Amino acid sequence: MNKNKGRGFEIEIIEYDKSMREDVLRFYRELPAEDIYKRFFGVCKDFECYVDNLEGKDGIILVARYGERIIGVCEAYPVNESEWEVAIIVDKEFRRRGVGRRLLTEIALRIRDMGGRILFGIINRSNTEAIKACMKLGCKAESYDYQTVKLFYILQ
Ligand SMILES: CC(C)(COP(=O)(O)OP(=O)(O)OC[C@H]1O[C@@H](n2cnc3c(N)ncnc32)[C@H](O)[C@@H]1OP(=O)(O)O)[C@@H](O)C(=O)NCCC(=O)NCCS
Repeated sequence: MNKNKGRGFEIEIIEYDKSMREDVLRFYRELPAEDIYKRFFGVCKDFECYVDNLEGKDGIILVARYGERIIGVCEAYPVNESEWEVAIIVDKEFRRRGVGRRLLTEIALRIRDMGGRILFGIINRSNTEAIKACMKLGCKAESYDYQTVKLFYILQ
């Protein structure tokens, strides 16, 4: 995961703070339905409540910004001493330009610094875009249930 391609445009990866709340809410609310399904399995309707929960949790939230515009969010939470669950979404317009790689690389470094060893995400089997991207980034996949796969990455 340690390649850091600029792909010809400048973005910044920053840690979420409450001053970004409205922009993050707008980013989530403006996602097309298919992306809400991919990212939240279709279950999240109340983003205000979701962001409230994020702010109260003991994890890492990174935001990718292009100028003033939020173009991606990546969140990770420890589920035990060594494993962290990760979720990510990049604005469709900015995909395949290295934003996902930047967010995941940065969050992986922070998780490693905090003593984590394994990153994982549970993804719908139909979400081939995310599965291909994660495999390209070095993740391994294992069957989780009939609908989902568990993608995981072991930190070196
Ligand atoms: C998964 C996701 C975050 C990837 O973000 P991204 O910014 O497009 O990823 P990158 O551009 O950094 O791509 C990372 C690698 O995966 C590859 N990749 C990305 N999308 C791909 C696709 N659809 N097919 C094949 N390879 C793909 C890229 O080529 C790149 O490899 P490279 O650097 O060796 O060229 C993005 O597709 C997304 O937001 N999907 C919807 C939300 C979602 O499904 N989240 C996962 C569940 S939480």
